[in-house]
This record gives sequence, structure tokens and C-alpha cells, in this order.
Amino acid sequence: MATLPKIEFSALDAPAGDVLVVLAGEGGSIPESLPAALRETVAKAAPIAKFKGKSLATLDLIAPAAVEADRLLVVGTHSKEPASEEDFLKLGGTALSKTKGAARVTIRCELPGGAVSPEDAARIAAGALLRGYDFDLYKTKKAKSGEEEEDVSGDQPSTLTLAVADPEAARAAFEREEAVATGTMLARDLVNEPANILGPVEYAERIQELAKQGIDVEVLGESEMKALKMNALLGVSQGSPRPPRLVIMRWNGAADDEQPVAFVGKGVVFDTGGISIKPAGSMDEMKGDMGGSAAVVGLMRALAGRKAKVNAIGIVGLVENAVDGNAQRPGDIVTAMSGTTIEVLNTDAEGRLVLADALWYCQDRFKPKFMVNLATLTGAIIVALGNHYAGLFSNDDALAERLSAAGKASGEKVWRLPLGREYDKMIEGKFADIKNIGGGRAGGSITAAQFLQRFVNDVPWAHLDIAGTAMGSPSNEYNQSWASGFGVRLLDRLVADHYQST
Ligand code: BES
Ligand code: MN
Ligand code: ZN
Repeated sequence: MATLPKIEFSALDAPAGDVLVVLAGEGGSIPESLPAALRETVAKAAPIAKFKGKSLATLDLIAPAAVEADRLLVVGTHSKEPASEEDFLKLGGTALSKTKGAARVTIRCELPGGAVSPEDAARIAAGALLRGYDFDLYKTKKAKSGEEEEDVSGDQPSTLTLAVADPEAARAAFEREEAVATGTMLARDLVNEPANILGPVEYAERIQELAKQGIDVEVLGESEMKALKMNALLGVSQGSPRPPRLVIMRWNGAADDEQPVAFVGKGVVFDTGGISIKPAGSMDEMKGDMGGSAAVVGLMRALAGRKAKVNAIGIVGLVENAVDGNAQRPGDIVTAMSGTTIEVLNTDAEGRLVLADALWYCQDRFKPKFMVNLATLTGAIIVALGNHYAGLFSNDDALAERLSAAGKASGEKVWRLPLGREYDKMIEGKFADIKNIGGGRAGGSITAAQFLQRFVNDVPWAHLDIAGTAMGSPSNEYNQSWASGFGVRLLDRLVADHYQST
């Protein structure tokens, strides 16, 4: 990963670095507290550049006489809607991307209308970090200055200073934001990593490193899963020479008797489709079929990093869906840990089989307040929602509402789709209790969710289908990476807003 800038906080009028970034409001106006000469320069340049201070528009002035810095970058913040948490991430990302090549960048966090709160200043910093993320582990020649328009990895500032009204408060707020950004980047790393490097065993080992953050990590191997009768998960794994793992993470940030919240992730390190093999085109993207699990791991890292006052469980089912003489066949019948029998009519509908046992185990062992699972579960969710919303399915309206609100705040948006008896009928089995596909293409994401619901046993539960948002979504101001880390900020917000003890 590219070296990220060091984040510092200073007083508003501390001397700037090589580049000074200031924020503009409506009409391109900048704060009145800025020196008159600087304000005049901007007032003169803005109309020439047709800069009107619109949100994330920039005005770049090189070697202006009015400031000591080599460059002055004005970033617009004006929009009709009130600024959201995500808008500040975008602001930080934009500032970083436009200040390539400078060693020291200072962002003056002040609006024409008044101060930027410590929390929002911290988000600007987090946005810059997230923008700077680049998975360049396997590039033997690192990107150089100006080589690629959008790539800032090679020449990021060594120091990014946020000039703020209250540096102490902003520094404190940044501790939280930094933990969440670190969790997001961990999730991105895991998803970007290819499957030859990250098999179930290696992945479990990576998760064990979280013990350093105070997370309890327990790893179940094949024999333990056999003893637990997790035959749905094991059936998926049997076509791969690489053994499966079930990893249980525990962050105990609240009182011991506090009921935990739980997060469960699909961790298919590579999905060939199995005997119902996938077409060759873009199959490489199936190295990201563990995006749900990566979000869970990243979230646990974030909660531990910010010492969240919550008891949280994270469970990930790690398997490879491969093709082999020993692979599971279409028509095979397996008995899940819950006792439900499943006809495997399509071996490419494997994620639900992995989650069936992981979800059942989670509620059976931990009796959580709720379970949220994340999975790159269906191509159909991309057909329905594209790359901008994850699919949300839930048996609990209150939980669904909270997730939707967390999505709006964080910018990791979710859209609820229905569950119901009619759809449940579509997965009734011919030879077993249920089958692992619905009727053809109709309602493909819903029948998948309906399948999962069979294994949650009345616990408040939500399923997030992140096939369209975990990877390959269009890059934005604070993400240029193939893997987005989707889910970490969303669920961190959910926990922070509703499930922490005070
Ligand atoms: N991992 C895929 C879903 C997927 C597709 C994720 C595209 C990311 C991008 C999943 O295991 C799968 O293959 N689903 C099948 C289900 C079908 C066989 C019922 C699908 O979506 O085609
Ligand atoms: Mn599949
Ligand atoms: Zn899959």
C-alpha cells in the first residue's frame, strides 16, 4: 500500500505548507478572516476561471504573490443540500488529489459562513487518507509523479495539516475517523489481494493478527466444522484442496453481561462457480467474492481501533468454490447445521450455503441482539441496483430503518427489497426441504435472501447484498481502488448511533 501522508492539526492561522487549501462558499467567496491580499487574488481569479464555489469545484492558483505557499487551491463547498458526513470525505479526497507533488499540504478548515466542526475536519483528513489508498503491493515500479491523471499514490504529501479552530478537539475526533479509515483500508486490502495469496488458511492467519488490537480470534478448521455438522459450508469447500476456515472475532468493549451485536460475512476466496462453472469473462473478479467477510473484518478492526463501547461478534466463513473430481455436484443433497436439508441445484449459488451454517452457528452460540450479514451474493442485485446501492433485506423494520439511515449518513447507501411467503415458496425443494436456487432468473436476489432467512431463527436480521458495491464500482473522490471497503463505514455508523453504551 502506498505510504499515506502524516496527519497533523494546527491552529487556523499557523503558517501553511507548500500548498494552502482554502474552502469557498456560494459565489466563490472565501472566509473573511483570510488576509485581504489573498482574498483579492481569489476574487480576481474566480470569475476568470468561472469558479463559483460549487461543491468540490476547484480553483488552482500557482505561485500567487498574495501567499507564501507555492500554490493556493480553493475548493468549493456550496450545494443546495446540507453537507453530509460523506461530503467532508469527498472534500478531503478532492484536496489530496489536486495537490500532487507537494510535500506539505495545509487545509484551512473554515467556511465563509463559519467554522468547520472538529468532527468534520477529522472527516476531511480521513477522506484524504482513503483517497490516497492504492493497492500497489505487486507493482515492482511504483507510480511516478504525473504519470497518470488520477493516480496520486506515487507523490502524496508527506504531511497533511488540518488548520482548525480547535486543534485538540479535531485531533481527538480524528482518532475515531482514523480507526474507521484503517478498517476500510484493511477491507480493501483483503478484497484486492488475489486468491493465490489469500486462501482460507492465509486469510484466517491475517485475521489472527487482529489480536494485537485486542480482538479475540478463534479459528475453526475442517474437523471442528464436521463435528458441528456444517455440511452446507463444507459441501462448497470440498472441491478445493485448500481447507476451509470459520473465524470468530470478538470485541468486548461493553460490560460482560451486555448482549452482543453480530456481523457475518461471506468469504469465498475465489468463486469458479464449481461444477456449474462460470463463463471465463471477468472471472478474475471472483477473487473479490469474500467482500462481505472483508467488511466484517474491517468493521471489527474499526470498532477495536476506536475502542467502541459495544460487544461485537464477527463471523466469517472462508472457503474456495473450486472445480475438481471431488467437487459437489448439482443435485447433491446436504444437511445444514440447523438440520434443514438442501438440494444443491446450482453449485454457483454457493454463498448462501456458506452463510446458512455461519448464520445458524452465530445465533445458536451467541444469542445476539441482531445479526447483519454481508455478501457478494447475487449478480441479480447489480441488475436491480447497479453499483450505487447495496440490497437490504430484513425481517425487522426497526433494524432496516436504522441501516437505511446509516447508509444515508455514511454515503454507503442501501435499498430495501421485499421478503415474503410468495418468494419463500420459490425455494421449496423437490427432494429436500429447500433448494439453493429460485425459479430461473426471476427475483434472484430475493430468493437468495429468502434462503438465508431460513437460517436466522427469528433473530432480528438483515442481509446486505454487496455484489455491486464491494468492488468494481466507479471510483469517487475518496476511493480509487477496485475494492471499495463498502460496509465498514455503514456498520460503524449503525453501531455508533444505536448500540453503544455510554
Ligand atoms: N459470487 C456470485 C455473485 C456475484 C456476481 C458477485 C457478480 C459479484 C459479481 C454468486 O456466488 C453467484 O454466482 N451467484 C449466482 C446465483 C445463481 C446461480 C442463482 C448468480 O448471481 O448468477
Ligand atoms: Mn457463485
Ligand atoms: Zn459467490
